[in-house]
Amino acid sequence: MSQPVDPTTTPAWARLTALYEGMEPDLRGWFAADPSRSKSFTFIAGDLYVDLSKNLINADVLSALVDLADQVDLVARRDAMFAGEHINVTEDRAVLHTALRDPEGFSLVVDGTDVIPEVHEVLAKVYAFAEKVRSGEWVGVTGKPITTVVNIGIGGSDLGPVMVYEALQPYVKPGLQARFISNIDPTDVAEKTKDLDPETTLFIVASKTFTTLETLTNARLARTWLLDRLRESGAIEAGEDAARGAVAKHFVAVSTALDKVAAFGIDPENAFGFWDWVGGRYSVDSAIGTSVAVAIGPDNFAEFLAGFHAIDRHFAETELASNVPALMGLLNVWYVNFFKAGSHAVLPYAQFLHRFPAYLQQLTMESNGKSVRYDGSPVTTATGEVFWGEPGTNGQHAFYQLIHQGTQMIPADFIAVANPAHPLVDGDNDVHELFLANFFAQTAALAFGKTADEVRAEGTPEAIVPARVFPGNHPTTSIMAPELSPRIVGELIALYEHITFTEGVVWGIDSFDQWGVELGKQLALQIAPAVSGDDEALAKQDSSTQSLISYYRSQRK
Ligand code: F6P
Repeated sequence: MSQPVDPTTTPAWARLTALYEGMEPDLRGWFAADPSRSKSFTFIAGDLYVDLSKNLINADVLSALVDLADQVDLVARRDAMFAGEHINVTEDRAVLHTALRDPEGFSLVVDGTDVIPEVHEVLAKVYAFAEKVRSGEWVGVTGKPITTVVNIGIGGSDLGPVMVYEALQPYVKPGLQARFISNIDPTDVAEKTKDLDPETTLFIVASKTFTTLETLTNARLARTWLLDRLRESGAIEAGEDAARGAVAKHFVAVSTALDKVAAFGIDPENAFGFWDWVGGRYSVDSAIGTSVAVAIGPDNFAEFLAGFHAIDRHFAETELASNVPALMGLLNVWYVNFFKAGSHAVLPYAQFLHRFPAYLQQLTMESNGKSVRYDGSPVTTATGEVFWGEPGTNGQHAFYQLIHQGTQMIPADFIAVANPAHPLVDGDNDVHELFLANFFAQTAALAFGKTADEVRAEGTPEAIVPARVFPGNHPTTSIMAPELSPRIVGELIALYEHITFTEGVVWGIDSFDQWGVELGKQLALQIAPAVSGDDEALAKQDSSTQSLISYYRSQRK
């Protein structure tokens, strides 16, 4: 494994520093001076139309960013990832989410095994299961078909499935719903099951490791809920045999640890495997997406995977100067490292993408929130951004004020589709067009702002002119697609996966481990006895934690 290149020592970094220092952002002037600016900075990846022209770039900046990518060996690192080299060095693993969407007939030998036939074997098993549930062939313990699948998982075993399920609502089979239990707050399991019929409910326990406290606790709670309800109604007898029979009909699992699945009491026949080379936050396209495959069906799921694959090919094969994920990743580096942007907004103008920003938070922040490089040495520059967002136009009436007129630079990605899921009209107005008018207006307002003279020309009293000035020059990227289909949702996810990868390569970090979440997990286990009343354990805590736990114990009824 090569050593990470310190990006700050490269000639491209020096050039970018000079370009940054010499830049006077002027999107109004730049657009006025160059009628082809939009064309020059618009790129196509798969079905995605990506306009970078409202970013704070010119041809020199873009070419220096591409040089930076060359000088940190982005292409070699990318190729190493696609080839299955162990680029996740701290866990000594290949990083092969891209293999999950390679079509049948591809071949990729990793550590002596061709992984593609294995991928398709599992996919076939997931699809066969999905068909059985969808057709009513899979029945619960009392012979009724399944109407609700409940995915129990957290992090990558939840955020991807729930986001995609929400995004693809129009593709969900009528009469079938999915729910998602993730939080160990008992409210989650209680609320999500309270109106369900156990006879028609099937739980999918999704956990890569099958050791995650939240997921295993919730799975046990769900099993208790199922058996208690079935016994109360007389649907099953008391006793272990009846319980085993009911669990076999109402629980399946997805994991890389099939031995642990069996130990939990789920028949390995009803389990779908995957591999340690799939990171949790990169796993929605593995068997972790089983709840989605059931809901939208195998054909749509296959289209979803084809969307990922189209962007994988684009990322793997397109020269960097027009490689959309690479350019977007490099732009993020430009803003984080030169403009000191600490956050990045993702603003989908598509209600069905309402969980997309939450999904991206894990993808980007668990991947790139690192302070050491993959050789263990400290990073040499800032890494990572806070990703956040809400669907437009809700965000407009909440936090856009800060983006337009606040003191921080917040680069933003705006995402919209041409064809709505629900083409409603309000009188003579096509409501989707009103919606998209907002999408177009916001990026224009952010880019071009409004000068004091323009404000005055509207007759605004002088005293409030400053408050009504919009400085403009707020960078945005506009991503458009024909419609929110399974394919395009796959394309969007793969786009951000490769953006995240590109940033990680520049910073020299391992974007595929997540040691930062471990300490809190360990401490929770240590503190649990203190919370339950063990005074000795309580005495070992710091004074703040002791007081907080004492307060809890004094208040708990
Ligand atoms: O939060 C840490 C993490 O390991 C994530 O990376 C992962 O997606 C999540 O926990 C769930 O893990 P598992 O699928 O093993 O239950």
